[in-house]
Amino acid sequence: MIILGIETSCDETAAAVVRGVGNKVEVLSGVVASQIEIHKKYGGVVPEVAARAHVLNILPVVNEALKGVKKINAIAVTVGPGLVTSLLVGVETAKTLAYAWHVPTVAINHIEGHIYANWLRPIRNDKGQMTNVKNKIKFPAIILTVSGGHTMLVLMKGHGKYKVLGETRDDAAGEAFDKAAQLLGTGYPGGPIISQLAARSSQLNKKNSYKLRDMSYEISLPRPMLNDKNFDFSFSGLKTALLYGIQKNKNWKKKIPEYAYEFQQAVAEVLVHKTIKAAKLYGVKNIMLSGGVAANVELRNQLKKAVENKLSGVKLIIPEFKYCTDNAAMVAAAGYFHAKRKNYTAWRKLKTDANLELR
Ligand code: KG4
Ligand code: ZN
Repeated sequence: MIILGIETSCDETAAAVVRGVGNKVEVLSGVVASQIEIHKKYGGVVPEVAARAHVLNILPVVNEALKGVKKINAIAVTVGPGLVTSLLVGVETAKTLAYAWHVPTVAINHIEGHIYANWLRPIRNDKGQMTNVKNKIKFPAIILTVSGGHTMLVLMKGHGKYKVLGETRDDAAGEAFDKAAQLLGTGYPGGPIISQLAARSSQLNKKNSYKLRDMSYEISLPRPMLNDKNFDFSFSGLKTALLYGIQKNKNWKKKIPEYAYEFQQAVAEVLVHKTIKAAKLYGVKNIMLSGGVAANVELRNQLKKAVENKLSGVKLIIPEFKYCTDNAAMVAAAGYFHAKRKNYTAWRKLKTDANLELR
């Protein structure tokens, strides 16, 4: 089955074509038109500007993704959550193409799309033959979804069967990275910048001393809700703690990598701790990571180590970097598994929902 995926929920205009066979998904094409350069000067995504850019980009992007593709069986499109004016561009495009081509449509929740990035793994050997995918995904699974808009721990009992165990009560993890970068005056988007700065921190050479000793103050940030019994998160206090920390320190600009390091540690530690706790409680077979913050190397490494050390017989699956941030291949992959179950939504009934929940 060949699926065209369309994604315009935030600031990336994306289209991709995947082929689904059994439980495997193969990416045939993927195009992402990023708007990072457009929004950089505002320090964040400006919804109206994003929607206008989607209008300009969507047809060229879809066209490019369809090059060489003779036939598609269905169109999967992100209907929410996201910026409503951005979502509308993708959804209206999907409706129009479905009407013109007489193909069915599948409505995809953006978070579900991120989850299915974990199914986008190389499935052919050097000779181009389909192989048995190593580490086949088994249920139940726990997925830590961490993006610019969401931070969620999801229990997945099967395709399309989700239970949200916990989520952020305020800022999302990616949003926290973006705001921390803004406080440190280092630019947008914050995640990749904070992680590059952290890699330069002198903390990395001081494995045994967690706090910096060469300063008259300590760089230490809280680990919010680390030991709470629930699976919720909170990152806005962490950002405020960073703000107070730098306000108290006249020389903070000389220690930006150390602040970035400590901030990244604080976020990663809380995320990893709660994911492992949930995996133990629900006796899962797989842990998956998804969303833009899943591109964070420190988070990936900490989670790998924790799974190895604390959970036996549990496999960790992490998407390739290019499928962590917003893309349409993940949407098409989610669409394939819906289409396999004949879970279509008539194009006339496709509706954008900025606050769509994962159910
Ligand atoms: O999933 P995504 O592309 O868009 C949303 O659905 O929100 O995630 C974007 C978020 C941004 O907040 C960005 O700062 C963060 O992902 N991000 C990272 C990294 N790369 C992207 N955060 C931490 N470390 C990274 N390497
Ligand atoms: Zn996203």
